Amino acid sequence: MTAVGIDAIEIWTGNLKLDLPGTFAPQKGEDPEKYTKGLGLNASSFPDSYEDIVTMGANAAHRLMERKGLEPDDIGRIDVATESAFDNSKPVSTYVAGCLEQVYDGDFHHANKGERKFACIAGTQSLDDAYNWIRAGRNRGRGALVIATDTALYARGDAGEATQGAGAVAMYISEDPSLVELSTEQGYGSADETDFLKPNQQFPSVDGKRSVQVYLARMREALEDYESVAGDTHPDQFAYVPFHTPFPGMVRKAGLLVYRHMIRDTPIEEELADEIGRQPRPEAFDDEEAYHDALREYTDELKRTDTYQEWYGKTIDPTLTISREVGNWYTGSVHVARVSALKHGLENDLDLAGSQLLVGSYGSGAQAEGHAETVQDGWEDEIEALNLEEQLEARYDLSWEDYEEIHDVHNHDMDVDVEEFTTPEAEFVFDGWGRMGERKYRYVE
Ligand code: CAA
Repeated sequence: MTAVGIDAIEIWTGNLKLDLPGTFAPQKGEDPEKYTKGLGLNASSFPDSYEDIVTMGANAAHRLMERKGLEPDDIGRIDVATESAFDNSKPVSTYVAGCLEQVYDGDFHHANKGERKFACIAGTQSLDDAYNWIRAGRNRGRGALVIATDTALYARGDAGEATQGAGAVAMYISEDPSLVELSTEQGYGSADETDFLKPNQQFPSVDGKRSVQVYLARMREALEDYESVAGDTHPDQFAYVPFHTPFPGMVRKAGLLVYRHMIRDTPIEEELADEIGRQPRPEAFDDEEAYHDALREYTDELKRTDTYQEWYGKTIDPTLTISREVGNWYTGSVHVARVSALKHGLENDLDLAGSQLLVGSYGSGAQAEGHAETVQDGWEDEIEALNLEEQLEARYDLSWEDYEEIHDVHNHDMDVDVEEFTTPEAEFVFDGWGRMGERKYRYVE
């Protein structure tokens, strides 16, 4: 069977930056380490006044097309995943195509366009759609452009405010991909949950503490479901395990849970037994609460072992490097985590071709998905071509007053106009409103 997967990725960060320990923490009267150590974040990316989900998505896609030498005719499908859409009918992908048509001779009139919504997991679902479209033989030799783009803003004062972010990830899905092949096997953990939602409102209603528990419960279900089709997983099987990363502290919890699950009934559990005992089994307890207490105690002990710390440092921590500097990008976050991991591989000269990733996506509401990916021979060139460091370095560092202003600019209920903080260059920008309330865009050389 021909391999199908991600041929190329590009990332576009919002052009502004909010320093969490330096600028945000003092205003909140919080210890800076709550952000750097607790949540695991140094900064959030923000969109300048001329940026939004369309400009960021189109800019990522444009960079990707230029780098890969793609023309509109090579693309048979454009799917945008977002939870920051501003229109209940016209999909963001039509705006993105309109932008790209300004800079290419051809057009996307024969490309199927859509928009995917299921909170943060929609980016991964769009990958699925592209994969299935190619596998079904409906692609006529063309690839699919999948764009995950969000301005992940929370209401001022919400606990989630510290985890904000803005950026886009564009991916080209094709046969014989250069970066990663997607596994046919997948697992799902899905339930009707009320952890994070936006009932016709821009900023989310969030039950933050509960959302953490729901993430973990659905992720565990997804892993079990994945194993039911792919067989038991083992910690040594995967070079990296990128998760959806609302903030790195969340992934610290997910990594521990997944590791505990993977080592059960393996020699690793036996080797650790002298140090911390074996994992509690429910049948050994009279009541559920006692079992859960014992499991919590075991998990705390497990976290402190060298064996776990070594695995975490090698397999999970490298997936978090970019997220620490940009915050939550909702639909793009898990795809940023994959790039972060592969960048680590490149920087450390690792021979990753043929090795596997276990990718854990999550969307509130709620659903988790797990699948494996096999790193392809061309991965180094693809990752080397990214210019993310330059982008992060070029961001304008917001003062607290700037931050208050730019948050208002992006608040749909406010009509605020401020000077842009940065000067756009070789990118699409928001250019005002049309007669039917549509957004207009232009390319700035
Ligand atoms: N030094 C070191 N660590 C510190 C610290 C300090 N001075 N102060 C606090 N911490 C630690 C805390 O112990 C805690 O760590 P643990 O969870 O490991 O105990 C961590 O920092 C965060 O502290 P709090 O729990 O007190 O933080 P909070 O209540 O202000 O906010 C939150 C946490 C509720 C998750 C909030 O950020 C939030 O609502 N976020 C949005 C929702 C979210 O991202 N949920 C994640 C799952 S849902 C999802 O994934 C979908 C999505 O993208 C939104």
